[in-house]
Order: sequence, then C-alpha cells, then structure tokens
Amino acid sequence: MSAPALHTAPGAEAANLYVPKLVRIRKIIRETHDVNTLQLEFVDPAHAASFTYKTGQFGEFSIFGVGEATFNISSSPNWEGFFECCFRKVGVVTTALAKMKEGDIIGFRGPYGNSYDLEGMHGKDLIFAAGGIGFPPIRCLVHRVLEERDKFGAVVIVHGARTHRDLVYQREMDEWTRRRDIHMIKTVDPGGDPENWDGEVGFVPTVLEERVPWILEREGKGASNALAFTCGPPVMTKFVIAALGRMGVGPDQVVMTLENKMKCAVGKCGRCNIGNTYVCLEGPIFTAAQVQAMPADQ
Ligand SMILES: Cc1cc2nc3c(=O)[nH]c(=O)nc-3n(C[C@H](O)[C@H](O)[C@H](O)COP(=O)(O)OP(=O)(O)OC[C@H]3O[C@@H](n4cnc5c(N)ncnc54)[C@H](O)[C@@H]3O)c2cc1C
Ligand code: FES
Repeated sequence: MSAPALHTAPGAEAANLYVPKLVRIRKIIRETHDVNTLQLEFVDPAHAASFTYKTGQFGEFSIFGVGEATFNISSSPNWEGFFECCFRKVGVVTTALAKMKEGDIIGFRGPYGNSYDLEGMHGKDLIFAAGGIGFPPIRCLVHRVLEERDKFGAVVIVHGARTHRDLVYQREMDEWTRRRDIHMIKTVDPGGDPENWDGEVGFVPTVLEERVPWILEREGKGASNALAFTCGPPVMTKFVIAALGRMGVGPDQVVMTLENKMKCAVGKCGRCNIGNTYVCLEGPIFTAAQVQAMPADQ
C-alpha cells in the first residue's frame, strides 16, 4: 500500500502566515551613514491594489537566505503606490539590507500591530519627542497630522541624535522648521554639534523640558490638553516620561512605541511578550501608564 499522498490545498500557500509578499525597492534614500529609507512597491499588482495599513503599524522585512527584521512602516497610509521603512544597520539582516540596490526584491509580511488613534487626537496639543532611529515610528504620525493640520492644536517636535550626522529625515526637518504652524526643535548631544549648528545642544528630555512649556504657554496652552508621543532608546524614553510628568503631562497622556525583539509578529512564538501582553498583537503602541503597569521582568 502506498503512503498517503500529501496534498497542498489550493490557496494554502497564500494562507500561510509566514510567507512574505515580494516587494521591489523602488528608491533608496540615504538618511545618514548607517540609516537608509527604502521606498517599496509590491511586485504583484493585485497585492499592491489590496494593501492597506494604519499609522503606526509595522512589518517583517526579509532577505531570502538571510532572515527577517521588524521595522515600522514610516510612511503615511495616504501616500499612493509605495510604502516606506527606515532602518539602522545594527546586525545581520540590516547589514544585508544596507547592501541592496534599487530594483532589488525583498520580502514583506504585514501590516501588524495596533495603530495611533488619530480621531482621539483631534483638538489636542501634540508633543513629539524622538531620539535617533526612534523617529521613523513617529514620522508616519507627524505626516498624518500635517495632512489634516487644522484638526489639531499646537504641534511641537523635539528630535535628537548623538551628532548632527545622525539626525534622520534632515530634508523634512528643514521643511518643518520653515513652517509657522509647527515648532520644530532639533538637538544633538553635547559635543555632537558642528560649527554653525543652528539647533540645540542637549539631550532630548532636557531640551524638551526647557523649551516645550515655554512654547505651550506662549500659545496659551496648558498641559491638560497635551498628548505626547515618544520613541527612542529606553533610557531616553524613561527621562522623557519623567520630564513630561514634571510639566504636568501624565503617563496616560504619553504614547510610546515598544520595540521588543520579535520573531513571528503574529502572537505565536512568545518572543515579544511582557507578562501576559503580546507586544506584536496588542502593541507596539501603548500609553506610558500601560507600560508602567506591566511586569518589569520580561
Ligand atoms: C515593533 C518594532 C518596530 C521597529 N522599528 C524599527 C524601525 O523602524 N527601524 C529600525 O531600524 N529598527 C526598528 N526596530 C528594531 C529592529 O527590528 C532591529 O534593529 C532589527 O531586527 C535588527 O535586525 P538585524 O538582523 O540587523 O540585527 P540582529 O543581528 O538580530 O541583532 C543585532 C543587535 O541588535 C540587537 N537587537 C535586535 N533587535 C532588537 C530590538 N528590537 N531591540 C533591541 N535590540 C535589538 C541584538 O540583540 C543585537 O545586539 C523595530 C523593532 C520592533 C519590535
Ligand atoms: S513576536 Fe512572536 S509572539 Fe510576538
């Protein structure tokens, strides 16, 4: 008797959660010496037509034979024909990705995770505080806010990096600096400023606390109507939350993106969880109050 044949049901491949879709690198933008933005488009027009995502969601980006890495989708969902990610070269996959060229094909799974509550932000004064490669997860939200600028109150952005060479999205930041309806503050760590540097010198939490209360007061705004969004190295976000607290912006008014190491991104592998919370399913966006209520050991 012959062994029972193994059948692959029609469509089974498409239903496999781990099979990536093919995307072509349409454009590479070199942000800094170790950070690149990739503009991506689906190879299959049917995938392109059906693809949607929400502001703040992430994906798994893969190089065949190398592996997968998790990045936020850093573009606005309203941009048509392509989506973007921005990554820093830190390890195996990101080093391989940094060698890719325009026209090359990579894999993409997603979108995954929760998203920012844009409607809940209407009428609020918005403070964005990001450090280094922590800016891409917030950049998509800044663009969404600017697309409907009149629906929000004050907009203050504090973006910092170790040196001026490590600041990502320099062109956009120059553009935002010229706008009268945004307060754009760029800062570098002490010692990271070149001659003729026109930004601040100081760590993000310090600059935030020195500048933002004064800006809000000048516009007749109080801390009670503010919402803050932060992403960056854990030590930075810890001090940002403390600084915001001293300004009267409590942990339930602070929204942060967690970047816990992930593998499956679909709630199966248990790599990302903090206590009972699966960051890939329930996050990566949480209020600081939610994060503070999570167990400290992971
Ligand atoms: C939801 C989410 C969104 C993210 N968004 C971005 C983004 O937009 N841009 C970006 O550049 N990165 C982002 N990251 C981090 C990114 O996933 C890792 O830097 C990436 O997976 C590294 O892959 P690699 O193979 O190059 O590094 P590996 O070879 O796997 O590791 C290199 C080094 O980085 C460390 N590392 C890897 N992942 C993490 C992590 N998540 N947290 C802390 N240390 C880590 C490793 O421990 C090791 O020391 C995000 C992570 C998550 C979970
Ligand atoms: S990444 Fe596998 S469970 Fe979250």
